[in-house]
Amino acid sequence: MGVFKGEVTALPPDKSISHRAALIGSLAEGVTEITNFSAGFDNQSTLGVLRDAGIGIIQEEVAGAYGRPVRKVIVTSRGLWSFIAPQKPLMCNNSGSTMRMFAGILAAQPFESELVGDSSLMKRPMKRIADPLRMMGAMIELSQAGTAPVRIKGDKDLSPIDYRLPVPSAQVKSLVAFAALHADGESRIQEPVRSRDHTELMLGLETLDTPDGQRTIIIQGRKTIPARPFHVPSDPSAACFLVALALLGVGSEIIIRDVCLNPTRVEFIPVLRGAGADITIENSRVIGGECIGDILVRSTVGLNPLVISNRTVVAGVIDELPMLSVLSAFASGEFELHNAEELRTKESDRINAIVVNLERLGFDCEQYPDGFRVIGRRTRPSGTVAVECFDDHRIAMSFAVAARATGEAIELSQTDVVGVSFPNFFDIIDSLTL
Ligand code: S3P
Repeated sequence: MGVFKGEVTALPPDKSISHRAALIGSLAEGVTEITNFSAGFDNQSTLGVLRDAGIGIIQEEVAGAYGRPVRKVIVTSRGLWSFIAPQKPLMCNNSGSTMRMFAGILAAQPFESELVGDSSLMKRPMKRIADPLRMMGAMIELSQAGTAPVRIKGDKDLSPIDYRLPVPSAQVKSLVAFAALHADGESRIQEPVRSRDHTELMLGLETLDTPDGQRTIIIQGRKTIPARPFHVPSDPSAACFLVALALLGVGSEIIIRDVCLNPTRVEFIPVLRGAGADITIENSRVIGGECIGDILVRSTVGLNPLVISNRTVVAGVIDELPMLSVLSAFASGEFELHNAEELRTKESDRINAIVVNLERLGFDCEQYPDGFRVIGRRTRPSGTVAVECFDDHRIAMSFAVAARATGEAIELSQTDVVGVSFPNFFDIIDSLTL
């Protein structure tokens, strides 16, 4: 059994905010300075495609908080139409956010471009991005299966759009917003289930909320976006792995500093508290429109099983579901999830990936199209269990946390994959291990 104690000051900068800061910088007039930009592979992929499309990107190390260096990214652009036709397909690697959100910008540029990715990304659904962009006037070509390569023939005169999101996806919302910034007139995006709202906050977009939880985002096209600085807080999705580590490791207590506490991102905290977890927020404050604070977590014996089915809650914990389910299985023997069909469209089919591995570890599980159940633990395998990571950083980290906290012998099929979002994942866990 692992015991974990200490202070975490080097959590990765938030992946979602880093992507958006770079993309918004590429649309702004002037020089955008982004401090504490993420070194994760996904965010570096966004910088790579921007560079290949003619945007000036400089990355340097500067002194940061707690006496350690952080990355500063400087994006230089002349505004909405500063891109040049790329000479080769734009490589997004493992990053769905890069491919989907940049497609919204490329759809408004008067040239042809093509977006490609690694084998995991080339399998993910892209029809959801082609539909609204075609409605706005861009020509988008996908594979027969509705996946990448995404071939785009952009149109400088995109039409505004009134679009109700058919899937609860912050990436789709953001790409429509990015395209709409170029359109001649006012666009509206209706969001039946709320998803992360960084794009709206960072662009200062007007929003209308109705009491049933629906939101409409209003975008005025062809307005100059003045360059402004961004500071990226620490990634709550990365924090969730350390929260689970401390909850499972009997006698543990850790504090994670300066985490983004945007309510659309930290739904895992009320979910875990509802199951009895000892989690406290300290020092919360607002910086650059985002709420930031410290998460104090103490190990909790007797955590109740998690049961997650509400669609808004599912959207609020979409990236944390691998860790939450594995945590619930190891802490209580049970877990139940519904209304989460989106989980099958991530870096892997995460419903299948979690179930396959929990079964190898002796848990009885049942999968259905929109979720799965863990019914109990039948056996404890003797010897080392091979966990298949399916090229998915969050699957690798979820099972690594379970292994470190419980002491069970687990061998991951991949460890480098954690670098997609959390390059110092193993270093931080080592530094907390007593
Ligand atoms: C993200 C949105 C989510 C999430 C992904 C990052 C974003 O995807 O799973 O890791 O930054 O907008 P969807 O928009 O597909 O739900």
